[in-house]
Amino acid sequence: MRTTESLSELRTIRASMQGILGLIPTMGALHAGHLSLVRRACSECRHVGASIFVNPTQFSKGEDFGKYPRAVQKDLELLESLGVDVVYIPAADSMYPPGYQTWIDVEALSTPLEGKFRPGHFRGVATVVAKLLNSFTPDKAYFGQKDAQQAAVLKRMVRDLNFPVDIIICPTVREPDGLAMSSRNVYLNPAERQAATVLYGALSAAKSRYDSGERDADVLRDTMQSVLDAEPMARAQYISAADPETLGELKTINQGVLLSLAVCIGETRLIDNFLI
Ligand code: PAF
Repeated sequence: MRTTESLSELRTIRASMQGILGLIPTMGALHAGHLSLVRRACSECRHVGASIFVNPTQFSKGEDFGKYPRAVQKDLELLESLGVDVVYIPAADSMYPPGYQTWIDVEALSTPLEGKFRPGHFRGVATVVAKLLNSFTPDKAYFGQKDAQQAAVLKRMVRDLNFPVDIIICPTVREPDGLAMSSRNVYLNPAERQAATVLYGALSAAKSRYDSGERDADVLRDTMQSVLDAEPMARAQYISAADPETLGELKTINQGVLLSLAVCIGETRLIDNFLI
């Protein structure tokens, strides 16, 4: 496995590859969710690349950029053991050198849900992913369904800007008790970790209502709300039953629905969703 901080070296490595390249962009602190993306890419692509970059522009002021977990050595061992060919670990000042001023704003899809609570987040995500796509020129790029809005924003971006890449969204990987894998789960103390299962509980309760025929989106949102109300450590930021493509809140569910929520457990903000 090759590891590089240099864009020109990455481009040389890329030029020497023949056959399909799959890319997994990451912020490191890899968990089983990331590894499932790598495995999927390895099964579909001749070559696999990954990036590790804790992207400062997708963190708002007061968020956890400074304390975001970093474990580069362990990440590299994991990526190598799975057969990744190349890992790009750019420095922040090479990604955003002095004078940097070009941004990608996927407008309407970036404003609801996460966008309300994390202003500028998707502008940072879209911009860094566009730069990584331009750096690797992969044929496929892999992301997790756990970040459902990010997936919608990135799919829209590659369509709107004609990036020649397939965006592949892979299922959320969960702990045995349902908690979605996230690099931020390490912030939870044991009591909070226990309480954090309420996200999966709320989504599961709404899905059971849906499975038994309920199509009124308010009922599904209320169902999630009442499960969260029963957990004293949980403070919901949003509870949503939205159109999976436009992310607009639904009244009645006719086709698909994206059930999603963001919940603070202590100081830790967690998100999760079910795509039905
Ligand atoms: O999902 C993430 O880890 C990040 O948002 C991404 C896509 C690597 C961009 O920094």
